[in-house]
Amino acid sequence: MSGKRVLLIVTGGIAAYKALELVRRLKERGIAVRCVLTRAARELVSPLALAALSGERVHEELFSLTEEAEMGHIRLSREADLVVVAPATADILAKMANGLADDLASAILLATDKPVLVAPAMNPRMWCHPATRRNLARLVEDGVEFVGPAEGDMACGETGPGRLVEPEVLVERILARLAPEPRPLAGLRALVTSGPTYEAIDPVRFIANRSSGRQGHAIAAALARAGAQVTLVSGPVAIPDPPGVRTVHVESARDMLRACEDALPVDIAVCAAAVADWRPESPADAKLKKEEGAPPPLLRLVENPDILARLARHPTARPRLVVGFAAETGDLEAAARAKRAKKGCDWILANDVSPGSRVFGGARNRILFLAGDEPAESWPEMPKEEVARRLVARIAAALGREAP
Ligand code: C5P
Repeated sequence: MSGKRVLLIVTGGIAAYKALELVRRLKERGIAVRCVLTRAARELVSPLALAALSGERVHEELFSLTEEAEMGHIRLSREADLVVVAPATADILAKMANGLADDLASAILLATDKPVLVAPAMNPRMWCHPATRRNLARLVEDGVEFVGPAEGDMACGETGPGRLVEPEVLVERILARLAPEPRPLAGLRALVTSGPTYEAIDPVRFIANRSSGRQGHAIAAALARAGAQVTLVSGPVAIPDPPGVRTVHVESARDMLRACEDALPVDIAVCAAAVADWRPESPADAKLKKEEGAPPPLLRLVENPDILARLARHPTARPRLVVGFAAETGDLEAAARAKRAKKGCDWILANDVSPGSRVFGGARNRILFLAGDEPAESWPEMPKEEVARRLVARIAAALGREAP
């Protein structure tokens, strides 16, 4: 990593003290670090300590004659290989999303032509506020990469999402970002399904499930990073479209099947969506009304198409590799084996969704990986992004491409 340069922008969160540890760890790897502090961050972490650890002067002012003469904000923003914002407050996210440039940190972020990696840290309510969600979605669309926040106890006494990720997690992401990315799946096409489906009862009611789409979206993003040309067919979810992926939004299982068939031919298909097995046979055209004294309506269900099985048994355009998921509550391995055989897919990733497993909607997953008739492999619990990376490495190896 020697010769690589990081511009670290520290904004005013309590977690700013962790920037010191981050600088130390990056310097140990031979990475040159130049620090920029916002005015609020200056109250929380000493510029002198950052200067001592980084071995460079710390930059704070947008309009300083000496700084403009020595190193303007444009030069600062261009001389790094990567710009890192850690910790990133709700305020800097709002400025970035709207292109404000009223201090050195925000001016650099607007002027830079380098990749930007952001590690947010804030109170959980600020993180969940619709304004922050909007800003986040916009920044993801702009190609800004995020790491964290983690969940846990906050300095403010509350609990929830908003903690700065630990320095070692951040260092790993920075190293991965600085390393030239291998693109073992370049030239291949991939299709991923993700999220739940909505099956209409009437124009306002539907049957759905608790799938968040986080695992499927992470897989689509990881396939794209590995160089594949990815189509993501997503049911209704509350998370942003992954960068670098063509996302098709659908509601029902039948829409999802149509969008998948439209995306063929592909080399790889990963079905991570929690597709509703049944749908109301004849959804009402008008809202069903509650009539005084009348019995509740009876819903008659019919089976939905099985998208995974259709792709795996496609008569003319079967992908080279078809991967399914199995959310189970009983004997995981037996159920996964039976499901693989029944659906005709190559691999199954089974996960336990018993009450208390917190897999649905959660950030982590524990996978039992089943390839053909080989013995099942138990993967330790890990973030869904890591499951995605592992799966992509397996896909690359199976298709005779070098692992990413
Ligand atoms: O049968 P079950 O829903 O448990 O199977 C799970 C796997 O099958 C997942 O990979 C899911 O995406 C896929 N599936 C599908 N279409 C369905 C039902 C499930 O693609 N109608």
